[in-house]
Amino acid sequence: MANHLLLVLAVIIVIFFKEATAAASYNVKKFGAKPDGRTDSSKPFMSAWSAVCGSTKPATIYVPKGRYMLGGLRFRGPCKNRAITIRIDGTLVAPSNYRVLGSANYWLLFNRVEGVTIQGGTLDAQGAGLWACKSSNSKNCPQGATSLAIYNSNKVVVNGLTSLNSQMFHMVVNGCNNVRMVGVNVVAPWNSPNTDGIHIQYSTGVTILSSKLTTGDDCVSIGPGSTNLWIEGVACGPGHGISIGSLGKDLKEAGVQNVTVKRVTFKGTQNGLRIKSWARPSSGFVNGVLFQNAIMTNVQNPIVIDQNYCPGRINCPRQHSGVKISNVKYVDVHGTSATKVAVKFDCSKKNPCRGITMRDVNLSFKNQKTAASSYCMNAGGTASGVVNPTSCL
Ligand SMILES: *[C@@H]1O[C@H](CO)[C@@H](O)[C@H](O)[C@H]1NC(C)=O
Ligand SMILES: *[C@@H]1O[C@H](CO)[C@@H](O)[C@H](O)[C@H]1NC(C)=O
Repeated sequence: MANHLLLVLAVIIVIFFKEATAAASYNVKKFGAKPDGRTDSSKPFMSAWSAVCGSTKPATIYVPKGRYMLGGLRFRGPCKNRAITIRIDGTLVAPSNYRVLGSANYWLLFNRVEGVTIQGGTLDAQGAGLWACKSSNSKNCPQGATSLAIYNSNKVVVNGLTSLNSQMFHMVVNGCNNVRMVGVNVVAPWNSPNTDGIHIQYSTGVTILSSKLTTGDDCVSIGPGSTNLWIEGVACGPGHGISIGSLGKDLKEAGVQNVTVKRVTFKGTQNGLRIKSWARPSSGFVNGVLFQNAIMTNVQNPIVIDQNYCPGRINCPRQHSGVKISNVKYVDVHGTSATKVAVKFDCSKKNPCRGITMRDVNLSFKNQKTAASSYCMNAGGTASGVVNPTSCL
């Protein structure tokens, strides 16, 4: 009998303890969200956000299956809570009229949050209308909204999220510390304008792992002030490649430091591994980059540094880039170039690239009897192991 009582008591204690520590979960449908793809569910989502942000213990917003139409949402912190999960089984859909968000900069913005995990889900920004406007050369097209913007935040995880057809960039990380993006899937057509996959700037400790990025602009673009960045296991293409830059647009600009890009593949992309700067004076720099283990398939510019970027030859003709590029390593880069020049280092006359190293690079000119070639201008460094085309450093 005493044993039974003890058992019952133990069970009660376990249940009580579980209740006390269980994360509170807020289902957006309970707040009135409608999974019909048409009803504006912005208010219910914001109510759920207020609930989790104001909670003092770990809390989850749960989005069940279905399509939820959302206008521009601002998930603002600081929150009382540093363990927020947004678990999405459904799809978030932007308004079909691109003008609703077109001038708003962002569709979904997280600002000043800490300890937020976005788990699963699909964002469907329905960007095709805006792209059509832009390609019709109409001057009345808005710039377009970034689908997911993470600003001024710490410890953010994005896991298993799919982003479809953004108006502008798919995702932007700006002013953040410690952001992990894992298993991200970006999908947009090769000819959709300005649809960069993931753009990073003024952030440190950003990690992108095991992701597939197919889009109309850079798969990953790395802007000023990016440090301690790690990109591994990314498949890019179609798209414009993984790009550090454009840098040096401004006279006073933060540098890019300690970037690792590993185990990446490029298929039919415009560029592979690129560093790009404006041909203008700038305090910007790039120091410490490792590009390791990349496979190129039919890539127009597999390895490229271009410091003479000056679109339309406006505000920079005959100027030289102030951006100082140093300590850039290319190790184990293989595959095919779609153009004859597989390796191009076109550096600044005023600030030549220094400390470029190449080891075991083998790129051939696709389906051609003529060999691939390399081009160096104002570039210094060393080559070792197999280097094909022959190094011009
Ligand atoms: C470079 O960045 C990685 C993360 O990407 C970090 O682990 C490492 O400590 C950084 N190195 C330096 C010297 O800061
Ligand atoms: C370079 O790649 C080509 C094409 O894949 C291959 O035939 C060649 O053997 C490779 N060269 C070396 C030295 O690995």
